[in-house]
Amino acid sequence: MKGFNVSSNGKYVYLQTFGCQMNVHDSEKMLSILAEHDYKYTEDFHRADIILLNTCSVRAKPEHKVYSALGRVAKLKEKNCHLIVGVGGCVAQQEGQRLLDRVGDLDLVFGTHNLHRLPELIDDVKTSGRRLCAVEFSDEARSLEIVPIPPSGHKVKSYVTIMQGCDNYCSFCIVPYVRGREKSRPGENILEEIRALSKRGVREITLLGQNVNSYGKDIPGGLSFPQLLTHINEIEEIWRIRFTTSHPKDISPELTRAFGKLDKLCEHIHLPFQSGSDRVLTRMNRGYTRRQYMEIGEQLREVCPDIGITADVMVGFPGEDERDFHETLNLIQRVQFDNLFSFKYSPRKGTQAARFPDQIDEHTKSRRLRALQELQKEITLSRNRAHEGSCEEILVEGTSKGGKEEMTGRTSSNKVVNFKGSPELIGQLVEVRIEKGCANSLRGKII
Ligand code: SAH
Ligand code: SF4
Ligand code: F3S
Repeated sequence: MKGFNVSSNGKYVYLQTFGCQMNVHDSEKMLSILAEHDYKYTEDFHRADIILLNTCSVRAKPEHKVYSALGRVAKLKEKNCHLIVGVGGCVAQQEGQRLLDRVGDLDLVFGTHNLHRLPELIDDVKTSGRRLCAVEFSDEARSLEIVPIPPSGHKVKSYVTIMQGCDNYCSFCIVPYVRGREKSRPGENILEEIRALSKRGVREITLLGQNVNSYGKDIPGGLSFPQLLTHINEIEEIWRIRFTTSHPKDISPELTRAFGKLDKLCEHIHLPFQSGSDRVLTRMNRGYTRRQYMEIGEQLREVCPDIGITADVMVGFPGEDERDFHETLNLIQRVQFDNLFSFKYSPRKGTQAARFPDQIDEHTKSRRLRALQELQKEITLSRNRAHEGSCEEILVEGTSKGGKEEMTGRTSSNKVVNFKGSPELIGQLVEVRIEKGCANSLRGKII
């Protein structure tokens, strides 16, 4: 071994995460079970004995990033032949053995249902020297039940997984293939985890699932999603509840009412609409119309006038013409989103839409994305400016990028607010007067 600081027992792990909150939280779970087996996390990959990549395949871009990262790792392996390299997450699930065949420096491929086996799999690679692939789906949902031990120190916010998988099969989307069928966690396990987090000082929780609105439908006699929210609302030391992601076709009147009824439920919803054209929505297999989507928005604002609404949208879905695209712009104009995550449609192998004959050229996709983002930029700014002069309750999360004397937190509606203050405020709710609405955040003064 040349030039490497490898620990005596080979137990330093470096982990890089790509993709959505689900993956970020899965990475926390991985580090947590590895810590139980005496593995230590290192931020320095030169020091690592084990390098893990937790990957995303939702679009071509994040998938390419994984292959570039693997190229960099291959160089480290040239210098350290004992280094173990593993790939998990959605690319691993999709490619399985093919990934192992294609990338010679890879030792381990593990899928989205196999997180709980990670220590055993690494040990197996170490002792046998074999290259392994573990990508079976299982109904047992053992990975779903891993409860990560939060790192020591003050952690104000935490994710909690409430379900895995997706049964919706939107025609563009790879997620149902790489995350498997919908499976909800029993309500009692979720509540127990949240109570434990609250005892450790966590004050805000974000419930995670690909489609949280269909939570509980697979557990006869169990809690529905609004009922789960009601129970969490009763946990004293939890001050704020968020969830992501919601699907418009499954928003029930009961859930809409929860925004008016549950005092801890934050005034924010992330509700992807994907397109404003009915013709495109049908081909996407989304299960709602543009009218229904706009009605949901109106109902939410009736119950909760200050609710922040954000969404995902894509341009250049197969067959999308200028009229369809203008319907999307029109929907954006009418709903007045607080923010949008916008993407160019990216064909995903194995999905229905990748086989549609009328694919849109790259140039058109880029032009439409630019126009859409220009429009949303103006709307975001005007919605941020509308907060000027108001008083907002902020949960202080940490120091802002702006410097030591500056703190950062979020409004209930999920807007980032920066203000002068000291680190003792971290973890507290403070009242801030908003002085300026900027492009991506608000500036304020503590009252
Ligand atoms: N479960 C969530 C979405 C998860 S994927 C939901 O249904 O809302 C996150 C976002 O990625 C999607 O909302 C969509 O806008 C985008 N996305 C998914 N597949 C895509 C593809 N093939 N090309 C471009 N964007 C895609
Ligand atoms: Fe993908 Fe649709 Fe499921 Fe969301 S609801 S994860 S977009 S298939
Ligand atoms: Fe990506 Fe998998 Fe999430 S494909 S978006 S990491 S569920």
